[in-house]
Amino acid sequence: MSVHSKLYEGKAKILYTTDDPEVLLADFKDDATAFNAQKRGSILGKGRINCSIASQLFQQLELSGIKTHFIDNPQPHQMRVKAVKILPLEVVVRNIAAGSLCQQTGLALGTVLKQPLVEFYYKNDQLGDPLLTRDRLLLMELATAEQVDEITHLALQINEFLKEFWLGCGITLVDFKLEFGLDSQQQILLADEISPDTCRLWKTTETDPNRRVLDKDRFRKDLGNVEDAYEEVLQRVLQAVETKK
Ligand code: TMP
Repeated sequence: MSVHSKLYEGKAKILYTTDDPEVLLADFKDDATAFNAQKRGSILGKGRINCSIASQLFQQLELSGIKTHFIDNPQPHQMRVKAVKILPLEVVVRNIAAGSLCQQTGLALGTVLKQPLVEFYYKNDQLGDPLLTRDRLLLMELATAEQVDEITHLALQINEFLKEFWLGCGITLVDFKLEFGLDSQQQILLADEISPDTCRLWKTTETDPNRRVLDKDRFRKDLGNVEDAYEEVLQRVLQAVETKK
C-alpha cells in the first residue's frame, strides 16, 4: 500500500489518502488536547495505545454486527479505514453523570442514570462543539431525521455492547463519544476511535474519585500517571479479547 498525501490533520490523528480511493490511513498521534485545545500536551505511547484499543473494540463490535470503518493495522499506531464522509456530529452516550452533564444540570458526579442518555453535539471547534437539540440539528441539515434515528439506535446498541465488554475488563463505562460517517453507498459506519481519549472509564473495584480514573480525565485534571492508565486499559482490553477466543 502506498501512502499518498495528507488529507486532514486533527488534534489526535492525521489522515492520509492511499492508492485506493476507498481506503484512508489514520496515523494516531501522541498529542493530547483538552477543553477545545486550550490545554495541550503529549501522552507518551498514546498513538499506539489508542490505535490498538480502538482496533480491538472495532473488531469486537463488527463481530456483534455493528458496521465500522476499521480495516487493519499496518503499524501499531496506524489504522487503515474505509473512506467515509464524517457527519459533523459528536454523539455522546452517558450511563453515569460526569463532566459537562454535571456542570450543566447540577447532577452529582457518579449519579447512575435510569437509562442511557444519547446527546448530539455540533462538531465545530470554532463554536466549541455546542450541545444540539434535534430540531437545531435538522435545521442545520447536519443529518436527516432518518439518520438521527438510526444513529441513536446504533449508539444505544454500541453502549450495551461496550458496557458488557468493559465490565469484563473490570472497568465501568461512564460515558463516551462516537462519530459516524457515510460510505460511498450512503451506509452509516461507526468511525473515528473509541479509546481512553473518548470514553470515561472507571476501575470498577476502586471508589476513590481520582484513583478510579483510567481515561483522559487524568490529563484534563492533572491527576498524574496518564501513560500508566492508558497502558493499563490496553492490557485489560487485550486480556478480555484473549479470554473471549
Ligand atoms: P463531556 O462530559 O465533556 O461532555 O464529555 C462526554 C464524553 O465525551 C467523555 O467520555 C469525553 C468525550 N469527549 C470527547 O471524546 N471529545 C470531546 O471533545 C469532548 C468534549 C468529550
